[in-house]
Amino acid sequence: MSFPKGFLWGGATAANQLEGGWNEGGKGISCPDICTGGSHTQSKRITPTLEEGTFYPSHMAIDHYHRFKEDIALFAKMGFKVYRFSIAWTRIFPNGDETTPNEEGLKFYEDLIDECLKYNIEPLITISHYEVPFGLTKKCNAWASREMIDYYMNYCKTIFERYKGKVKYWLTFNEINSATMPMGAFLSQGILNEQEKSTDFTNQVDDPQLRFQGLHHQFIASAKAVQLAHEIDPDYKVGNMMIYATSYPLTCDPDDIIKNQQQNHIMNYFCSDVQCRGYYPTYMKRYFKENNIEVTMEPGDEEILKAGPVDFYTFSYYMSVCQTADPTKGAGEGNILGGVANPYLKASDWGWQIDPKGLRYSLNEIYDRYQIPVMVVENGLGAYDEIEADGSINDDYRIDYLRSHIEQMHEAILDGVDLIGYTPWGCIDLVSASTGEYAKRYGFIYVERYDDGTGDFSRREKKSFNWYKKVIETNGEDLG
Ligand code: BG6
Repeated sequence: MSFPKGFLWGGATAANQLEGGWNEGGKGISCPDICTGGSHTQSKRITPTLEEGTFYPSHMAIDHYHRFKEDIALFAKMGFKVYRFSIAWTRIFPNGDETTPNEEGLKFYEDLIDECLKYNIEPLITISHYEVPFGLTKKCNAWASREMIDYYMNYCKTIFERYKGKVKYWLTFNEINSATMPMGAFLSQGILNEQEKSTDFTNQVDDPQLRFQGLHHQFIASAKAVQLAHEIDPDYKVGNMMIYATSYPLTCDPDDIIKNQQQNHIMNYFCSDVQCRGYYPTYMKRYFKENNIEVTMEPGDEEILKAGPVDFYTFSYYMSVCQTADPTKGAGEGNILGGVANPYLKASDWGWQIDPKGLRYSLNEIYDRYQIPVMVVENGLGAYDEIEADGSINDDYRIDYLRSHIEQMHEAILDGVDLIGYTPWGCIDLVSASTGEYAKRYGFIYVERYDDGTGDFSRREKKSFNWYKKVIETNGEDLG
C-alpha cells in the first residue's frame, strides 16, 4: 500500500481559527472577530458592536501570529510536504476597500511562507476562509453586493504579485457551497440581515435570494481570480474548495432516490459544476424558480465563467448524510449538514456521522464528473482530548478515524482517481468554526488553551503526532 510519488501529505488551518493577534500589525476587524465563543449546546452570537467583557475566541485563538515559527517547525518534524493555511484579508486590507495594502500584513505572510519553504513545505493558500472584512459587511453587506468582486480582485492581485515564485497552489473560497445553506450567509459570505437583530449565529434570519446572488458574485470573482493568477504566473494552480457530504438515499424507494439526487445537486454539485465546468447546471433553473430566487447576471458574466474554470478540485470531508422523502423521519441527530441519520454509521461526539467508505465513493464520483486532479484539504475527528497524569495524550480514536480514511483514499487511487494530496483539518488544535469552542480538538498537536480563556498556549505532541509522522515517512505504507 503506497501512495503516488510526490503525494502531498500535510495539514490545514485557517487564519481566524489559529492566528489571534486580531488587532495587531494593522489588522482590521473581520466577521469572525465579532463572533463570541459558543459550545456544543449553545450557539455562538454575532455582536455587530464588540462587547466589553465578552469572550471572542478569534482574538487570541492559539496565538499562532506570535508562534508561527514554532508551529511550522512542528509541522516540519512530522514531515509535512504541504501546509494549507489562509490569509486574513483584513491583515492586507483592514477595511476591505482600501486601494493600498497594509505592508505589515503582507510581510507577516511572506515570513510565514518563507518559513514553510525553509523546510520544503509547499504552501497551499486559501484566499478567503470564512473571513470577510467586517468593514465590507457594514459598507455593502459583503457578497450580497457586486462591488465585492472589485475588492476581492484587488486583494487577489496584491497577493498573487507579492508571493509570485514562492507559492504554487491557491484556493479561491473555502467551502463556497456552504452558502447554499442558511448557515453560510454570515460565516462564508459576510452577509448579515437585519444587522442588529440577527445575532444567533446558527439561526439567522435567512434570505436565500441574497445567498444565491452572493454566490453568483463569488463565482465571477473566482473565475476572474483564476484568469488573473494565470496571467501573473503561468505556474499558478488555482483550485475551488467544497464542503462535501456524501449523500445516500435512506431507502431504495424511488422517492428517496429523487430526493437524494436533488439534495446532491444543490449541496454537493451546484457550485463545483459552475467552478469546474464554467457554466450553471441546468437543474438549477427549476430550483431557482421553485424557490423564488432570481440571480441577476450582467452581460459578459457567462463568458467570464467560461474563461475561468479551476485547475484542480478540493474539498473537505467529515461525514455523510441520508436523504428521505418521508417527512415523518426526523432530521439526523446533530449532523450539521442536515439529512437523516444512517443506521449503519457511528457519530462523533458532535453528532457528525463517520463514514470512511463514503470518502472513496465520493472521490470516484467527483473525479468521474470533472476529470481534474483532486485534493482532500480537510478531514479529521473533532474530539475531547485528555492529558494523562504522565503528560501524554493518547488519541487512538483520532488515529483510527484518520487511518480508515487514508485506507479509503488509497482504494480510490486504485480505482483510478487522480488524488494529489491530503491535508487533515486542524493539524494543530484551534478554535471550532461552527461552535466557536476550543474543546473540539482535531490536532496532532495539543494547545493548552481552554474555553474559559485560561491556558498558556503551550504546545505538546499527541500520540497521533508520531503516528502521522510515520505515515508520511512511509508515503502511506505504514498506517500503524
Ligand atoms: C470546515 C471548515 O467546515 O470544517 C473549517 O472549513 C472548520 O473552518 C472545519 O473548522 C471543522 O468544523 P468545526 O466546526 O468542527 O470547526
